[in-house]
Amino acid sequence: MLQPQFPIPDAEPIVIRGVVFDMDGVLTDTLEFHYQTWQRLADEENIPFDRKANEALRGLSRRDSLMAILGDRMLGEAIVEEMLDRKNRYFLEFIQTMTQDHLLPGVLDLLQELRSDGIRIAIASASQNVDLVTRQLGLTDWVDAITNVYNVPHPKPAPDVFLYAAEQIGLPPHQCIAIEDAESGVKAALDARMWVVGLGPQERVGAAHVILSNLNSVRWKDLLDKIQCCR
Ligand code: BG6
Ligand code: MG
Repeated sequence: MLQPQFPIPDAEPIVIRGVVFDMDGVLTDTLEFHYQTWQRLADEENIPFDRKANEALRGLSRRDSLMAILGDRMLGEAIVEEMLDRKNRYFLEFIQTMTQDHLLPGVLDLLQELRSDGIRIAIASASQNVDLVTRQLGLTDWVDAITNVYNVPHPKPAPDVFLYAAEQIGLPPHQCIAIEDAESGVKAALDARMWVVGLGPQERVGAAHVILSNLNSVRWKDLLDKIQCCR
């Protein structure tokens, strides 16, 4: 398994000035919405799909997800594009129903603490819908930058989107904590040389510096202490 890296040498104090959140699975739980919409598409195309297969798509871009679902089925680009559009149309129906009630427990409290501590806040997502979902969740005014994998050359697990987010909030990556729920996202943030908090089971986010089950009741000061202790 991927080992955590330590972004700065032992002797230097760790200074954190920014937090970069993944969106899906960290700020809100859209996994079920993605499942329902991929399942609808797969059923229409007679392609086998289930919840287990959906879990493996966590953190992957829409196109990479479709490629995983198609497996060795070779389809022309026009057909692939049509499927990606159709899947997103179904997904948008769910997104319209989202409100601040869809924020995961603990998120608003943590954002409030970050704000009062002067910490810069970014979202770095694999979702092309990140602006819309952020708006539906009422978070637009809480964040200093919103980036997604379509702003950069390579999607997660490449580090590009985290590096870009750090640039957008004007900080070096080693002064940022990334919070991620996907294996691909943890790898991306580690390779960006950020401090990484993984949300979820060891087998999924075990490479992160700090592992938590979720953000419920997580205090900013405790998170900083955990980061200081992890190297
Ligand atoms: C990621 C999700 O954040 O965004 C994936 O974890 C999803 O499941 C991906 O496929 C792309 O989302 P969208 O909104 O661009 O289809
Ligand atoms: Mg995620």
